[in-house]
Amino acid sequence: MKKINEAPFLKSFCDTADNMYRLGWDERNGGNISMLLDESEVKDYLDTERVIRRIPFMGVKAASFDASALAGKIFLVTGTGKYFKNVKEDPENNLGIVRIALDGSCAELLWGFKDGGRPTSEFPAHMMTHIARLAADKDHRVVMHSHPTNLLAMTYVHSLDSDAFTHTLWQMSTECIVVFPEGVEVLPWMLCGTDEIGAATAEKARAARLVVWAMHGIYGTGKTLDETFGLIETAEKAAQIYMLTAHLPRVNTINDAELRSLAEFFGVPPRKGVLD
Ligand code: 13P
Ligand code: ZN
Repeated sequence: MKKINEAPFLKSFCDTADNMYRLGWDERNGGNISMLLDESEVKDYLDTERVIRRIPFMGVKAASFDASALAGKIFLVTGTGKYFKNVKEDPENNLGIVRIALDGSCAELLWGFKDGGRPTSEFPAHMMTHIARLAADKDHRVVMHSHPTNLLAMTYVHSLDSDAFTHTLWQMSTECIVVFPEGVEVLPWMLCGTDEIGAATAEKARAARLVVWAMHGIYGTGKTLDETFGLIETAEKAAQIYMLTAHLPRVNTINDAELRSLAEFFGVPPRKGVLD
């Protein structure tokens, strides 16, 4: 067997967690990531026949979502209560590789969570979102949740209407409409770590790769860690520009005709109902 600490998927996962921490998106244990792995990617690094322990599905409390659509799938996932700042230094305690049991009833631990840990309390939201995104895009792999400062701040002072929120973000930086033409979906404040917020997030994720949780944070999804990180990074930068300018008179803006010309030039269909 090869050393798992040298596996490219583990290294890039740790680097991503480290970058998220460095950017201030993931204070303390804030945020969580899960990434779908191919059996072929992991088989050189661990014995997939050896189940260390079976972990019941949980959010903060017991969960009862249906994971049968993911039966047999393998995920690398952050642990609940684990600090992002420690992930790169000590992946085996802070991360786990789990396989969804064939009957869809629990997570089988194949590696990690060495100190007895378990997947993030947002596991229901992650798994339901993976199901929704895989239905929209067969190459989908990553669900990333974090607490970026400016996006969070924006949810305190901006309408939570998804179209209005999208329009403002698109106006804050020329690249936004090109990076996330489908816009962002916004959920009102909800109790986190529950099946309910998981189902609501998954429902919103059918239409967009970014789902904002008002007064909490954001969910990003994508084919790769880089794509997903880049989506959140772009939205967060736009939110920062909004927060830097919202209290000042707006002298200039990117108007709807200009946003439309960007979408046409870059060949991306913009979310319907946002532009004039
Ligand atoms: P976990 O530590 O369980 O991943 O929770 C962090 C978080 O951001 C909850 O929304
Ligand atoms: Zn959170």
